[in-house]
Amino acid sequence: MTDTTTTIELQTQTSEATLSLRRPDDWHVHLRDGAMLQMAADMTARQFARAIVMPNLVPPVTTVAAAEAYRARILAALPEGRDFTPLMTAYLTDEIDPDELEAGFRAGVFTACKLYPANATTNSAAGVTDVRRIWKVLERLQSLGMLLLVHGEVVSPDIDIFDREAAFLEGVLAPVLRDFPELKVVLEHITTEDSVRFVETAGPNIAATITAHHLRIDRNAMFEGGLRPHAYCLPVAKRRHHRQALRKAAVSGNPKFFLGTNSAPHARQDKESACGCAGIFSAPTALESYAQTFEEEGALDRLEGFASEFGPRFYGLPLNEGRVTLRRTPQPVPDVMGQGELSVVPFHAGEQLAWRFEG
Ligand code: DOR
Repeated sequence: MTDTTTTIELQTQTSEATLSLRRPDDWHVHLRDGAMLQMAADMTARQFARAIVMPNLVPPVTTVAAAEAYRARILAALPEGRDFTPLMTAYLTDEIDPDELEAGFRAGVFTACKLYPANATTNSAAGVTDVRRIWKVLERLQSLGMLLLVHGEVVSPDIDIFDREAAFLEGVLAPVLRDFPELKVVLEHITTEDSVRFVETAGPNIAATITAHHLRIDRNAMFEGGLRPHAYCLPVAKRRHHRQALRKAAVSGNPKFFLGTNSAPHARQDKESACGCAGIFSAPTALESYAQTFEEEGALDRLEGFASEFGPRFYGLPLNEGRVTLRRTPQPVPDVMGQGELSVVPFHAGEQLAWRFEG
């Protein structure tokens, strides 16, 4: 199914392998702002040529001017010479003006719009309270061919947190797609077998991103020998059979599934607290983590399609020209990254990964 050109060269003398991939992109990332921006942006820009940047800042990115200013801050935070393109998104609210979205899209500032159901996750209080309130917006997106990126969870105290994604599919996404059959939608960071089936059987205008962490952890990771705040993200990891379905989908070669890390750094003290924040900082070793999963699944030859080809094709953007190399050599992951107030515990902290990104 994939026309991947991945090359794996076995170097017999060192018994190490290298993996060469077309430069990949991250189709879902949180780069933050202020003091955290520098580390978050640098870690993503090291590995990825482009990234879809989430707009859930405080205040959220709802205007063209705010997106342009945020894009400038991201670029200014990067070290000299990094070749990286942040792709900006607009945060949908009940009151958002479709003209503003269209102006940003036509000007090349907004690549897509992001739907956060109100209070579904970090900084989503200003999100959409009822999808019917943005019907006019959806109409406009469909007519423009502008992508809708979806945090697919319903928010209700009556619905168990482990069922919120499945409830969203039937209760929100299916009715939206019935009324807007041409709307291009990315169901982001999927965590369930239900979402895999939904996307597989939906039309060609529906795709999904899969994070590195949801391919590796199930819900037990949050409770292993005690409460583990660094394994907590939203949507929460589910049962093992869901993780297995995600792994199958990721390595399947089906172009509807592609890479989106949802890397979401929070300062260590904000995670290790009585009410810890949701988010896993996977950017520092994102590609290594995906490579390990693909290798375990015997599908390293499919990594390039997932990481570097299916995303740009779905977004209608050109594939990147350059290449990156991963070397199969042990890589210890630090327990903590950053200093003081900005210390963050990365995904895989304290573990040894089988691959190392070489650039
Ligand atoms: O775990 C998450 N963290 N999921 C999200 O949807 C938001 C993100 C964040 O911004 O921290």
